[in-house]
Amino acid sequence: MEIRFNILRTNRTVKAQYMQSIIYTIEDENATVATALSLMNETAGLKDVDGNAVTPIVWECSCLQKKCGACAMVINDHPALACSVRLRELKKPEVTLKPLMKFPVVEDLMVDRTILFENLREMKIWLKNEARTEPVDYDMAYEGSRCLQCGCCLEVCPNFCPEGKFFGMASFVPTARLISEMKKEQREEIYKEYRKHIYEGCGKSLACRKVCPAGIDIEGLLVNSNAMAIWKRGKRKLTE
Ligand code: SF4
Ligand code: SF4
Ligand code: FES
Repeated sequence: MEIRFNILRTNRTVKAQYMQSIIYTIEDENATVATALSLMNETAGLKDVDGNAVTPIVWECSCLQKKCGACAMVINDHPALACSVRLRELKKPEVTLKPLMKFPVVEDLMVDRTILFENLREMKIWLKNEARTEPVDYDMAYEGSRCLQCGCCLEVCPNFCPEGKFFGMASFVPTARLISEMKKEQREEIYKEYRKHIYEGCGKSLACRKVCPAGIDIEGLLVNSNAMAIWKRGKRKLTE
């Protein structure tokens, strides 16, 4: 299939942005966006539609199996993992690739997601004592452990901005993972952070749930965690 790739490129040195269009033919009908980027970078003498040489396109990947979140980018205006989007599923002869817009761009499609880890640190989600997961918490702990820290949820969230005090679902999901396993004294500390950085900022529109590439049950986790942290009630099963 012949595809026109429009790629928003950023020069690392001068930080200038420009859209570069490349027409490229891919034989593999199962090829993903990640495959296409790798192939284009391996092609010697690749030229764009204006006849300019294409320098290697900078993007991040690691697992190529939808497990690490590194390859998150904006594909045809939707945040997604490049290794999970098959070109044939896009049903378009044109594919537009941009970096996630809520993070500083390092170069081309690579962004600096340091803020995610700083926010997790500010949430203070580490264990001070031995943890124990009770059977009633298994579903919640499992669901919370599936977050890839990809940042796709933050891209569509109207309430998240990197400088703001609302940390979004990328901080919430790992917090929900640990909240039920902490000892009571530590939980009280986390509840304060939870109220400030999650509960008070979330509009509950759940746009984040639709785009989460891990398919995490964000709504179920929110209901349970709000019940515990804000209303001091017990948990329900995620499937109830
Ligand atoms: S529910 Fe809405 S406001 Fe809350 S994190 Fe998701 S997109 Fe953002
Ligand atoms: S909640 Fe989903 S979209 Fe958000 S960072 Fe985790 S895996 Fe990515
Ligand atoms: S490279 Fe790991 S999720 Fe795509």
